[in-house]
Amino acid sequence: MTLLGAVQAGPLGRLSADWMRILFSLINFSVSCGYNNMKHTMDVSGGKRGYFITLEGIDGTGKSTQAQLLARSLVSRGHTVCSTREPGGTLIGSRLREVLLHPDSRDMVPVTELLLFLADRVQHLTQVIRPALARGEVVLCDRYHDATLAYQQYARGLDMTPLKDFLGAEIDSTPPDITFWLDMPLEQSMARMALRDKRLGQTNGGDEGRLETEREGFMARVQAGYRELAQLHPDRILRVDAAQPAEAVAGELLTALATRMPGF
Ligand code: TYD
Repeated sequence: MTLLGAVQAGPLGRLSADWMRILFSLINFSVSCGYNNMKHTMDVSGGKRGYFITLEGIDGTGKSTQAQLLARSLVSRGHTVCSTREPGGTLIGSRLREVLLHPDSRDMVPVTELLLFLADRVQHLTQVIRPALARGEVVLCDRYHDATLAYQQYARGLDMTPLKDFLGAEIDSTPPDITFWLDMPLEQSMARMALRDKRLGQTNGGDEGRLETEREGFMARVQAGYRELAQLHPDRILRVDAAQPAEAVAGELLTALATRMPGF
């Protein structure tokens, strides 16, 4: 049930729908601009180019929780935050996401998968990320191109060299300013995923998504991919110990931003 739905079902349900919407907009102050609603707060960027933050890591490391906590912290500091994700940060992207993650797509060949993730990214960059950066916003993206490098290139073993020109023109030209790599022991993230699958299994009849049924060996390769990427880009990719309590992880992200993000 959504927060709005929960409130309406409770004792406040007697209030009119308009008042409920106002109350909800006050509670839900985190700004979203990709797959969610769009809301804005004061812009403290002075009209300059915005700041591009991405969150990465193997499945089950708490990226989505951190994305929400970080968006709230940045909004409370007066930033306009565009919260978005891949795959699925646009309307077309949400269709691609459905195809990519649906259990019926089990037989999708790796090259098709790669091209769909890239298609989602180009659409997302054009419709959401670049415009938001041009408006001077902080773009906070749950997964981006490092995910393709870790999952499709490193873990699936796809050679992306033939796409070099295309990637350079379309994607590499908009690199993140900072990437938080949420890392934790594989067993811990697998246990979290198992719990999540069980929960989803109760409500979705076991339909937990194609990619999330990947085996531990695959996730180990993805993790190794992220490790290598972090070594290749030490100035941009920051490893964060995601095994800590969520508040401690959130604190680390803010500390890192305090020294790197202009106007933090
Ligand atoms: P999602 O439910 O968003 O997982 P998470 O919450 O862990 O991010 O599913 C996205 C899945 O797609 C996830 O398993 C990682 C995978 N993925 C790729 O394989 N390549 C990519 O380029 C991207 C963006 C995601």
